Amino acid sequence: MVRVNTNYKNLKQNYLFANIAKKLSDYTAAHPTAKIIKMGIGDVTQPLSIPVVEALVKASFEMGVKETFRGYAPDEQGYSFLKLSIADYYKNNSNVDLDEREIFVSDGAKSDVANFTDLFSNDNTIIIPDPVYPVYLDSNIMLGRKIILINGNDANGFLPLPTEGLQGDIIYLCSPNNPTGAVYTKDQLKQWVDFAIDRNAVILFDAAYEAFISDSDLPRSIYEIPDAKRCAVEFCSLSKTAGFTGTRCGYTIVPEELIVDGESLNNMWMRRQTTKFNGTAYIIQRAAEAVFSKEGLESCKTIIDYYRGNAKIMTDTMSKLSIWHTGGLNSPYVWMKCGMDSWEYFDTLLNDINIVGTPGSGFGRCGAGYFRLTAFNTRENTIEAMERFSKLFK
Ligand code: MLT
Repeated sequence: MVRVNTNYKNLKQNYLFANIAKKLSDYTAAHPTAKIIKMGIGDVTQPLSIPVVEALVKASFEMGVKETFRGYAPDEQGYSFLKLSIADYYKNNSNVDLDEREIFVSDGAKSDVANFTDLFSNDNTIIIPDPVYPVYLDSNIMLGRKIILINGNDANGFLPLPTEGLQGDIIYLCSPNNPTGAVYTKDQLKQWVDFAIDRNAVILFDAAYEAFISDSDLPRSIYEIPDAKRCAVEFCSLSKTAGFTGTRCGYTIVPEELIVDGESLNNMWMRRQTTKFNGTAYIIQRAAEAVFSKEGLESCKTIIDYYRGNAKIMTDTMSKLSIWHTGGLNSPYVWMKCGMDSWEYFDTLLNDINIVGTPGSGFGRCGAGYFRLTAFNTRENTIEAMERFSKLFK
């Protein structure tokens, strides 16, 4: 008789954003004329930039011509043209040197972050900050692993640090943080790097929101911290940087000097990916290459500035209404206190002002009493949403 993985019984019934989507579709079925403003899942609203679209079109035509058609890529981990662009980006932004062999191109950070757990034995203890992007937690619950949650709260600025007596083997860090928008400083990240090296632990560092950092002193890559290549894997994505939520492209950095339990994680990830993944589409990789061109990066900056402008409108409104909030400055997320159960607040906003956000408790028990709104909207919708807020909470 087939037996299923019973660890799935330990998951919440639905993935957080699937839950919200269901609540929203129930509401719109009952209120078809409601003008809903979606500030829940962090999905971008601004289109792909012109250089990216031009690259997509050009690559698509190449695929229709015998001489330039491409089948399986010679290297499923990414074409050199893209990996070299990513390496340049790291050099220019973070002064980090990457070898092409350390870069693995994929369809996004979410899948890589979840799949990377394949490389570790199930008897490892996992350290996960709370509140947290639910993928880290769920993917380890699926494997029945022991998980230690470390508290992020008002007192530590939602940036938990290693403490005396903390024991664990794999540490998830997300900076700028989803959901709180908090960003670790170099000194704080160094504490984690020292902790990991000291205990032969590995840090899985999610840098998906690095492009939103506006303060030049804050690290955009964990490899800005000396020795981090000995203990950390970094995941990044073009979803939020360049509007690729529907186009799908990300990359994972697995340093060559990262040796764990006598094994090279780079070799293991290569072995895993060559078996289970056939690479990101050529046309998408050409589009991603265009993101890193001079014009591409300028366009990204313009779009990120636009979202930052939205975040400013949101945080100014919260300040005026004396609502405690953080984030929004180096992140597209504004994290606010809601003064009631997070799901009750969700219902209030949906029913009373037709705004959809994300309940803080969906990101963990430390998120209870908090709420997350995204700045990924149009300017018009952001202004309208904040007017509705002001009327409701005046
Ligand atoms: C979020 O809203 O937390 C993100 O959009 C989810 C994701 O990137 O998968």
